[in-house]
Amino acid sequence: MQLKPFLLDMWLDTYEHNIEFQLGASTGPPWTLNEVLSLASEEERQRFLNHNLVYGRPAGADGLREAIADLHGVDVDTVQVVTGASEGLLLLMWLAAEPEANVIIPQPGYAPFSALPESLRIETRRYRLRKENDFRLDIDEIKQLADRNTKLILVNSPHHPTGVTLSDAELDSLHEFTSSRGIQLVNDEVYHPIYHGQPTKSVSRLPNATVIHDFSKAFSLPGVRTGWMIEHDPKRREQYWNARSYFSISNNTAGEMLAEIAMRHRSIVLGKTQHTATQNLRQLAVFMSEHRDTLGWIPPGGGMTAFPWLVSGENSRAFCQAATERGILLAPGDCFDAPSHFRLGFGAVADKFTDALDRLGEFVKNWPASRDERPLAKF
Ligand SMILES: Cc1ncc(COP(=O)(O)O)c(C=O)c1O
Repeated sequence: MQLKPFLLDMWLDTYEHNIEFQLGASTGPPWTLNEVLSLASEEERQRFLNHNLVYGRPAGADGLREAIADLHGVDVDTVQVVTGASEGLLLLMWLAAEPEANVIIPQPGYAPFSALPESLRIETRRYRLRKENDFRLDIDEIKQLADRNTKLILVNSPHHPTGVTLSDAELDSLHEFTSSRGIQLVNDEVYHPIYHGQPTKSVSRLPNATVIHDFSKAFSLPGVRTGWMIEHDPKRREQYWNARSYFSISNNTAGEMLAEIAMRHRSIVLGKTQHTATQNLRQLAVFMSEHRDTLGWIPPGGGMTAFPWLVSGENSRAFCQAATERGILLAPGDCFDAPSHFRLGFGAVADKFTDALDRLGEFVKNWPASRDERPLAKF
């Protein structure tokens, strides 16, 4: 079993704990434990502080599942809680790993989309999000990649890192196609419902689709390490329950309780992320226009990341490396198999975003003259 190096997390772990301006993040503005607890009623606080640190239930805590079901307007039985969307992806790929199986995934994409099936020796087939096409997904390209051995088609809307979104009509069309072929359609919708244009509905409304979601991105509470799946098919649910009993038994119970508080007070939690992302994206649009000789971009339709590129076409790693020396963290595009791009997260910095863009602007103006000649850090 070979798992390819997780370049993104290696990069972030090297720099993010000691950087002035975090523009490499994929999340929204952070919350302290105290701030989350201050949203709670006295009864919720007491329940949190006095709960027994025992194993939780493999399907997830009852109260949390009810709150998630309420968000989606689905039956509570359809909710499987997982240890972050990461575990949801692992469950799905593990269960897809049959002889001759293939899965269809986006390129570029979040590294586990390819690393997990590759490690399990599942054939991966990639549909492309091309900047020449505004990163739009070509639904026909996805359909043409499928054959009778296709187990799963994964979409990620809003998409990380490009921020492109699928419309309800596009998801309907894919759902009709996968339903008629017996293929599992999965939407990783961890950035839902943060939108900057036309919003899309959750695929929980589609009877044969599977939702992967979490508290890390739109809710911006990655430390609670809690995610969920919505699955209407009882047989698949049984498989998830069984697999996660092997993988992790249950969630961290304190994380689940905090997640439940956030879900029950979601208008405040999601509102904070949307507000920060909307304000910052406006500033980012001005910035990108000022620097269009050096940087290209397509404004994201959802989420908190954009995926600009160097118009020179060069690999962005040296650019990102030199930026860290000016106190700015970006994430190199080779972490997503798109080397001339870089990920810019505009949701995590709430009050210093203007300063961060000013600093980045100075750096970009001098690029490539400001290029540092020192060798790149080795990974
Ligand atoms: C698209 C996508 N899916 C899933 C995950 C995993 O998130 P977590 O395990 O924190 O829920 C991430 C994290 O960056 C992501 O970007």
